[in-house]
Amino acid sequence: MTKSSEESPSRRTFMMVVIGLISAIVGVALAIPILGEVLSPLFKKRDIVWSELGKVSDLENIEPLVPKFVPVYFRVKEGWTVNTLPRQVIVVKDITGKLYFFSNQCTHLGCPLHWMPARQKFMCPCHGGMFNVLGKVVGGPPPRPLFVWVHKIENGTVLIQNKFLDNPKERGV
Ligand code: FES
Repeated sequence: MTKSSEESPSRRTFMMVVIGLISAIVGVALAIPILGEVLSPLFKKRDIVWSELGKVSDLENIEPLVPKFVPVYFRVKEGWTVNTLPRQVIVVKDITGKLYFFSNQCTHLGCPLHWMPARQKFMCPCHGGMFNVLGKVVGGPPPRPLFVWVHKIENGTVLIQNKFLDNPKERGV
């Protein structure tokens, strides 16, 4: 009798511990997917959406080999927010009518380029880098030609992303 009354509380305690553990495991199992869903935007890479640059018909009307600086507003999702990044696209039409969509950043250290009509070159104000109208380096320290934005044409509209065609892992800045 004495033995039974001594075992009873410890069995009860044991059962309570087991129930508590099972409840905790079930609680954690239920919480993980919910927490994952809520926190996942924080760990996702930036979600890049296509931004509209302009109608192909308008861009095709530009003068050949005369760059046109076109502002673009990239919409970039970061976590729970959507940011707008204003950037410049240099649109150039070559003599065959082909369109190019260059970044206006110097490929040396990223300074914004200016077009010098008299010299028919893009000039970098920082260290004297120079590019011809088709983006090729013609002077100064830039190590490579101008970056080309990732772009596509859909329903007569040029769409563009905030990253470079020849280096898709590298985003535009
Ligand atoms: S940043 Fe353009 S030459 Fe250095």
